[in-house]
Amino acid sequence: MSANATWLRLIRELREAGTLPADWESAFAAFPRSQFLPERMWPMVDDGEYVSVDKVTGPANWLRWAHADVPIVTQWDDGRHAGPDPGAEPTSSSSMPTMVAAMFADLDVAEHTRVLEVGTGTGWCAALVAARLGETNVTSIEVDEGLAEAARAQLKRAEISPQIITGDGAAGWHAGAPYDRILATAAVRTLPPAWLDQTTPGGLIVVPWGTGYSQHDAIARLTVGADGTAYGVFTRGAGFMKLRAQRGTFPNHEDYLPGGEWPNDAREAETSLTLEELKGQAAFVIGLRVRQITHTIHTGPDGTTTLLLYSTTPGDRSWAAAFFCGDDCTEFLVYSGGPRDVWQEVEAAYRWWIEAGSPSIDRFGLTVGPEGHEAWLDTPDNPV
Ligand SMILES: C[S@@+](CC[C@H](N)C(=O)[O-])C[C@H]1O[C@@H](n2cnc3c(N)ncnc32)[C@H](O)[C@@H]1O
Repeated sequence: MSANATWLRLIRELREAGTLPADWESAFAAFPRSQFLPERMWPMVDDGEYVSVDKVTGPANWLRWAHADVPIVTQWDDGRHAGPDPGAEPTSSSSMPTMVAAMFADLDVAEHTRVLEVGTGTGWCAALVAARLGETNVTSIEVDEGLAEAARAQLKRAEISPQIITGDGAAGWHAGAPYDRILATAAVRTLPPAWLDQTTPGGLIVVPWGTGYSQHDAIARLTVGADGTAYGVFTRGAGFMKLRAQRGTFPNHEDYLPGGEWPNDAREAETSLTLEELKGQAAFVIGLRVRQITHTIHTGPDGTTTLLLYSTTPGDRSWAAAFFCGDDCTEFLVYSGGPRDVWQEVEAAYRWWIEAGSPSIDRFGLTVGPEGHEAWLDTPDNPV
């Protein structure tokens, strides 16, 4: 199959799935993702692992991945990582085409809509938006100088020229404001106030948003009001790299459990909840219900998987560890310590979600205003 044929097949699949709006199809057809990807890249495979793909040594394999519906990492560790193996932290990627198409649908553009994209990355999305709305209606901002430069060069080769700014997109781009739409392709925990200021009242901000509890974020589609507030629903779950200043630092296990020992005065409990039940959508909802908490998951050599919870309340070192033994276990042991019973909070949040009928992500929404961020279920007057 020719290069173009594999791309056109993916476009057809996106259309048939109802993901790609008809008015974006010609932009997708004109700018295949492969035009914007570097020679070495790391597509994400099913199990959340990455494979290393090189255009020089395996051009057919490279193209197959470039036109696959998967996220592809294009930079590790802010560019400090070299070599074919994956680095420690992915810091730039080309999002999966399904997600890009869905976010464009959320953006709900018309002719001449003016868009600020935050997170230029490869420049592919900027090219698509420019093809859809006209080059002069699109500004894209990228914090990483090298990536911004590479995207500019790539866009030039592709003969399309949206404005690419090198800078911190958390400050928006004042010189081009106001915008009808802000499209963030890096996730936030806190919506930068500049985005509210720089969006026309009635305009939209489409952004992956989530809590510190997990990496399970969701796309928020927020309408900006004249009073500087914004509100709207989550349209779907998502996993995006964070805006650079919002990556956060992970708690140090030693600060909570010095020496790695379980203290003698730890509380002990049992649960019939499984780890699988606490993942995915549940993790997103738990984060909405329980503030100032985060978690990790470790699998030990005996196959027991441990869920570790840490309070991130300043000055508090409350923790919990739930041990999920193999398939034969039906009850799991939980140790916890500190003034907050973080396990009890997480379990209660999960049970709340189940008792509410496990509402899907698109029934939740977010209001952002001077008082901060408030998530809600179904209507803004029903806070989570
Ligand atoms: C998922 S990638 C964006 C993909 C891009 N839309 C494309 O088409 O390739 C996220 C990008 O956001 C950038 N980023 C992170 N923090 C940023 C910030 N504060 N301002 C601007 N860009 C930022 C990262 O460097 C990364 O390139």
